[in-house]
Amino acid sequence: MRRYLIAGNWKMNKTIQKACELVNGLATESKNINDVDIAVFPPFTALYEVYKITKETNIDLGAQNLWYETKGAYTGEISPEFIVDVGCKYVIVGHSERRKYFQEKDELINRKTKLAIEKNLIPIVCVGETLEQRENGETRKVIEYKINELENIDFSKIVLAYEPLWAIGTGKTATPEVAEEAHKFIRDLVQTKYGSEVASNIRILYGGSVKPDNVKILMNQPDIDGALVGGASLDVNSFMGIIKGSISL
Ligand code: PGA
Repeated sequence: MRRYLIAGNWKMNKTIQKACELVNGLATESKNINDVDIAVFPPFTALYEVYKITKETNIDLGAQNLWYETKGAYTGEISPEFIVDVGCKYVIVGHSERRKYFQEKDELINRKTKLAIEKNLIPIVCVGETLEQRENGETRKVIEYKINELENIDFSKIVLAYEPLWAIGTGKTATPEVAEEAHKFIRDLVQTKYGSEVASNIRILYGGSVKPDNVKILMNQPDIDGALVGGASLDVNSFMGIIKGSISL
């Protein structure tokens, strides 16, 4: 039985003080919630202060990115060892904003994913298509390519996130049917490549304008196992609305 994971990606938002306010609010509101995994992904600068709060709670911590080497002359980059050191359990890899603004390619994403696993982090690897690719009927091809590029990776140690680019930060959510079709396609691909045990255990999150009022219908789909939430994770009430919505199906 797959346990839902509701992950809040704060992106480039929240000073240390604001991050602590948000996570304190979440900690209070979620203290009796045990039926779902909850994780927050603050900016790097706030991770340690947030960790001091989350370590006493049922909220896990994650980083938004990592580098593919552990140390050395990589000015401005963050080693997976630092991420572990600061108390993180998860790390997001291959988010579409990294692919778009930082030209991250599948080969780099593959290396980052491998190193994250080696360092005992759980990578949340994002895949998804652009609007143009969807309109050209290329959604399956794009997803398949991205999954295939994750070569030599133990799929029992990762979480996948299906994030259609046209739904991120746009307020346009995929309909439950559209999302489920992609999720099922991904699970079938994993099954073909890695067998039914891995496929039935892997969590596939949906990401793209998840809100308290659409979370239920999305989570009701058989192959959607949680959400990677951007904008709506920046506020206690809306993120709690999503967490609560995901368990009261
Ligand atoms: P959004 O972002 O919820 O603001 O659409 C989702 C994401 O980027 O993971």
